[in-house]
Amino acid sequence: MSIRIHPSILSCDFSRLSEELDAISAADMAHVDVMDNHFVPNLTFGPPVVERIREVSPIPIDAHLMIEQADRHAQVYAEMGCASVSFHAEASAAPVRLAREIRALGAKASLAIRPATPIEPYIDLLAEFDQILIMTVEPGFGGQSFLDVCLPKVVRTRQAIDDAGLEVQLQVDGGVSTTTVARAVAAGANVLVAGSAVYSAENRSAAIEELRELALDALR
Ligand code: DX5
Ligand code: ZN
Repeated sequence: MSIRIHPSILSCDFSRLSEELDAISAADMAHVDVMDNHFVPNLTFGPPVVERIREVSPIPIDAHLMIEQADRHAQVYAEMGCASVSFHAEASAAPVRLAREIRALGAKASLAIRPATPIEPYIDLLAEFDQILIMTVEPGFGGQSFLDVCLPKVVRTRQAIDDAGLEVQLQVDGGVSTTTVARAVAAGANVLVAGSAVYSAENRSAAIEELRELALDALR
């Protein structure tokens, strides 16, 4: 299981987007939070901005779509070259069909679930996805506290992935920091999203490496 660190640019200085992307070039992917003010009570940006982010980013893009009607709006993010596209189970009527469409367009397909959404209805569908994203805060804002109540779900998801002999990545997003990253990894997560923990640090590369080291320690 490889550890991957995906800083969320939600906490960056949007007036200096290009430099803020360069500052996280030591990470594995840039996590880009798309919010529509309906699925979550916050609004960020849509396809034209994400496309420019992809063009200038030194690392691949991990798009996290917190939008309604994912079945209609997720494909464009795969078409524009995002490496991974996460859509929410709560916003998709046909997650298997959508995951297949995303994969056919050349991107990794990732299923995201909110804290109150169980993994169990999706256990038999795991092979359809490259990644499961378990939210460890209520989606919508950066800088919230990590929800430890979500960890048993991370454990059950990791168990199900391993039982099925699958190579599905397990991402956690929300409140990941130097104090919580070890618990997330111990529960079975291997892809760690961190927004405020990286962008509040003076030295973003050092913050990424510190999270990576703590995660690797928790793996041993
Ligand atoms: C929240 C977003 C997260 C957020 C994480 O809805 O999906 O990606 O940016 O920020 P932190 O790491 O500050 O909780
Ligand atoms: Zn996110």
